[in-house]
Amino acid sequence: MPDQHTQRYTVTAALPYANGPLHIGHIAGAYLPADIYVRYLRLQGRDVVFIGGSDEHGAAIMLRAKMEGISPQEIIDKYHHLNKDTFERFGISFDMYHRTSAQVHHETSQEFFLKLYEKGEFVEQESEQYYDEKFNQFLADRYIIGTCPVCGYENAYGDQCENCGTSLSPNDLINPKSILSGEKPQLKTTKHWYLPLDKYQPWLEEWLLGGQHSQGKKGIWKTNVYGQCSSWLKAGLQPRAMTRDLDWGVDVPLPEAKGKKLYVWLDAPIGYISSTKQWAADNHQDWEKYWKKQPDEADNATLVHFIGKDNIVFHCIIFPSILHAHGEYILPENVPANEFLNLEGKKLSTSRNWAVWLHEYLDNFPGKEDVMRYTLATILPETKDSEFTWKDFQARNNNELVAILGNFVNRTLVLTYKYFDGTVPEKQSLHPIDEEVLQKMQDLPQQIATAIESYRFREAISLVMDYARMGNKYLADTEPWKLIKTSQERVQTVLNISLQITANLTVLMEPFLPSSAARLRTMLNTEPRTWAQATDTEALAAGHQINKAELLFDKIEDKTVDEQIEKLLGGTPLGGTPLGGIPLGGIPHQARNEAIEQQEVSPAKADIVYEDFAKIDIRIATVLEAERVKKSNKLLQLKLDTGIDQRIVLSGIAKHFTPEEVVGKQVCVLVNLAPRNMVGIDSQGMILMAEDKDGKLVFIQPGDVVSNGSGVS
Ligand code: 2FM
Ligand code: ZN
Repeated sequence: MPDQHTQRYTVTAALPYANGPLHIGHIAGAYLPADIYVRYLRLQGRDVVFIGGSDEHGAAIMLRAKMEGISPQEIIDKYHHLNKDTFERFGISFDMYHRTSAQVHHETSQEFFLKLYEKGEFVEQESEQYYDEKFNQFLADRYIIGTCPVCGYENAYGDQCENCGTSLSPNDLINPKSILSGEKPQLKTTKHWYLPLDKYQPWLEEWLLGGQHSQGKKGIWKTNVYGQCSSWLKAGLQPRAMTRDLDWGVDVPLPEAKGKKLYVWLDAPIGYISSTKQWAADNHQDWEKYWKKQPDEADNATLVHFIGKDNIVFHCIIFPSILHAHGEYILPENVPANEFLNLEGKKLSTSRNWAVWLHEYLDNFPGKEDVMRYTLATILPETKDSEFTWKDFQARNNNELVAILGNFVNRTLVLTYKYFDGTVPEKQSLHPIDEEVLQKMQDLPQQIATAIESYRFREAISLVMDYARMGNKYLADTEPWKLIKTSQERVQTVLNISLQITANLTVLMEPFLPSSAARLRTMLNTEPRTWAQATDTEALAAGHQINKAELLFDKIEDKTVDEQIEKLLGGTPLGGTPLGGIPLGGIPHQARNEAIEQQEVSPAKADIVYEDFAKIDIRIATVLEAERVKKSNKLLQLKLDTGIDQRIVLSGIAKHFTPEEVVGKQVCVLVNLAPRNMVGIDSQGMILMAEDKDGKLVFIQPGDVVSNGSGVS
């Protein structure tokens, strides 16, 4: 369990880009676990501020604006309001949901930049970057597409090939094109300010891997987070530019940097701080107590970032380095990142409209936000990717919420009305079965607390359901509806204890099912209570009058979920409902890229003539040596015997194979691909791989051993 030396917590959930609506994958990744945690802390009486907001800068916003044919300002206004409203309707209880376009945010991130600048932390460096001469602007990495040097995919982005997953820089692309003009961009010199992550590496190694987060008393970092961090560190950190040549974002506050903006991954996490400042200003609070180191270390707030796995490096390496370089700030105690949620057997995808959009769910299932919260809590991708299906959603509702929790509450309240006119009966002498239940009422809340404080929310929700199950079993075993004929006194005891269980459930349910907990409190005619009171066996005094029972949950019919499945299968992929029917036109390559993404198998490429094919020289080669490439977590450096010569080829397979696994393999290699320099190494050819729709890579190999240099045709 995390150290509880302080009662003050700063809890953040990733600021989503205000460039699209929220889907259940976002919710399961960061927002639901964060909300469960925060609601629990509040019940514990801890001093907690829960911070969120919209990330409104960066190429993601600009691209969406271009696709929708409106300005970036219109895009962020549209989605900021939609997402803020959706979070509220879903019960995500942010204390502040701010936006990075706010003045206080621009000022805060500029102050941060200047502080680091004045401390001499940045390395200023000139480099050549692509420039679109028609549009008179430098091109963000996502604004350049070209052929991937690793797999040959023609629409790879300047920062990543979405076909083979390789991280790229724009200079790696073959035949780069600007997505603005479609023209070949020109290299032009520009100056940027770099954060020397290489300089911070020893400090990061100590802080991240040095025991504190792996086994120290401050809590264990999740394996997926620890693993990603250690592999980044093993690969060796490189300086990263903190400024960009863009016309949308926070101005770099230096006279010599006119027209330049802060890198979005510098300003976005500082958004947590500026959002806290706004909350403090609105609520007469001192924001510094939630972010800055206090004179007595024991008074420092505990900082926890909830994020999805794609944000790990930014929250565990880059932002902590920025906070460390500044010097006055606390560092995260934990970053409980989740893996991804799949939907009905496939990856969630915005562009394919393969998603359950939260605002649509809330419209289609009014009053049922807790059913989705419950379902997602039971399947959170805490240690590995997990899956949502509509049938499972229906089963969780009908077999658990209705049949266990709702049934127990309903029977208890209905019987109390039937036998005691809705007043809590007095407990009489206890039988062993009562003692057993009273003991479990002491134990389970503590187990739930331990699970929540260790970020094991799936376990916690299943223990809450066990608590209701215990009540259900108690009623089934004691059968008060039969006992009433022989012993009113026994029925008094059984219903008193059942009512106490029901009252304590209002506390235990609250982090997970807040609106149902509130409805149950109304039925019980009782006020909100603290977590410590969840073990109270006298929560409702004898004689207390309760209100009439209403159904907490109701059955979901086949027809309802079948409609959702049909809607999903019939979804319009490009510019469908969630984007207001606006076609993703205007950026032909992007649209084409997304059109390809919709298909299980990519379509055949355009015909070529035989003469073109004949130019291709593919040979059988043997891998003699293999090693990881220091500056990349995707590339393996292979030494091949091609029969013609021995040569070095870089291959983007490091996430799929270890060097040991590939040594000795016979492979097919394209030997006459012009050499390409990647991460400072010349790659002389390309290994051929097959990739299935799930991204699994397989070597193309001869069925029998053949001599190196044999031609493949
Ligand atoms: O991945 C994203 O959606 C980012 N906008 C998350 C930013 S988290 C934080 F740094 F603001
Ligand atoms: Zn590729």
